[in-house]
Amino acid sequence: MSEQPGPGGALVPLPDLDADGRAAFTHGGREYAVFTLDGQVVVTDGACPHKGGPLAEGLVRDGAVRCPWHWYTFDLATGVCRSAESAPLRRHEVLDVDGRPHARVVPPATVSLAERLRAHARGED
Ligand code: FES
Repeated sequence: MSEQPGPGGALVPLPDLDADGRAAFTHGGREYAVFTLDGQVVVTDGACPHKGGPLAEGLVRDGAVRCPWHWYTFDLATGVCRSAESAPLRRHEVLDVDGRPHARVVPPATVSLAERLRAHARGED
């Protein structure tokens, strides 16, 4: 995927959405999930803040995604966990670039050396 890395994150074109308005993609060794909420595209981290469950596979209902591992539920509009004390789900800005939706994905402040090396090996840094 093309990108424009920088201190504000990388611009990543979004993959096509499936019939349910969902998708997933990987960038820089990290997974991201794409949902549709009230006609708006929402991009979040793909890994659950609890223990890394695959949120792209979660059940979406009432504006929230439920992690398939332990059923924590995260509000897609805010990232707040509705069901337990948890770190919020990180959301990423979605913007239009030349008529195509992109996400500005920002890695967390702490990115492991292994993640950076994998991204470098793929030419993504
Ligand atoms: S890993 Fe998602 S709720 Fe535990």
